[in-house]
Amino acid sequence: MSTEPEWNRKDLVGIEDLSREELEMIYAKAEELKPTLKRSQKKQPILRGYTVVNLFMEPSTRTRLAFEIAATRLSADVITVSGNASSLVKGESLRDTAMNIQALNADIIIMRHSAAGSARYLSRCIDIPVINAGDGAHEHPTQALLDTFTLREKLGKDLRGVKVTILGDILFSRVARSNIWALRKLGAEVTLAGPSTLVPKQFEHFGVTVIHDLREALRDADAVMLLRIQHERQSSTHFPSLGEYTSMFGLNEKRANWLKPGAIIMHPGPINRGVELDSVLADSKRSVILEQVTNGIAVRMAVLYLCAH
Ligand code: NCD
Repeated sequence: MSTEPEWNRKDLVGIEDLSREELEMIYAKAEELKPTLKRSQKKQPILRGYTVVNLFMEPSTRTRLAFEIAATRLSADVITVSGNASSLVKGESLRDTAMNIQALNADIIIMRHSAAGSARYLSRCIDIPVINAGDGAHEHPTQALLDTFTLREKLGKDLRGVKVTILGDILFSRVARSNIWALRKLGAEVTLAGPSTLVPKQFEHFGVTVIHDLREALRDADAVMLLRIQHERQSSTHFPSLGEYTSMFGLNEKRANWLKPGAIIMHPGPINRGVELDSVLADSKRSVILEQVTNGIAVRMAVLYLCAH
């Protein structure tokens, strides 16, 4: 009898649902598939005959392309529909859109949507796997998977006790939420930092530390994850001005000296250079931002593989 853990999920809706063992299964598969991304390698026949539909109702560059490239590298046929090009703008419900995509013989739906909970809702409406590519400010599971995969590559596979500071607009960030779940499940210590309006103390309910002093938040960190100010989700201003934000919480070369020598800088993108992150620092040796992007293909190949089988 095999003692190998099994993947029993149809969907990937959020990191909150996953066990540590399931996270490890995704990393193991991503590690196995990453070498196949080399230019010299042929496509893997793993999803040959599958049709993957990317339904993107919010803007995206990295996530959409990484999913398209991941599915293509696994030999699936990939079709991307973006919000304003679908009948959702004609009043069709999300459920009807999804049921029609299923009726068109699609095998997997990847969805980005502005409503928190939309991915879970969709997963209950249809039989084919649904992969959440970001639902409002709720979760962005594959981003947290690629972030933690990158941390494991850079800092070692056992993240217990590793200190990660997430800095910026935590309140409106699905990336932060998914990363908090993932990092806590893996035993890392998480500090959230930024202005108190965007990083309320109540977040400590998640088992993290909230610090509003930047120097203190950076001092012990092994990695700092920066987040963009997500204006599109803010109904009122949460700080006086962008200039004010940058002057207090922007990461620049001087402040990077507060970090330990080996500490790494991460960002899910898109970067607003000169706001949350100084441009020189974004391109410096400390930055692993583009490695995160490449790892995004490997973890999405792993997720597609696991949900399809
Ligand atoms: C993020 C997102 O869309 O949630 N970007 C991404 O997927 N890499 C973060 C952001 O928009 O700031």
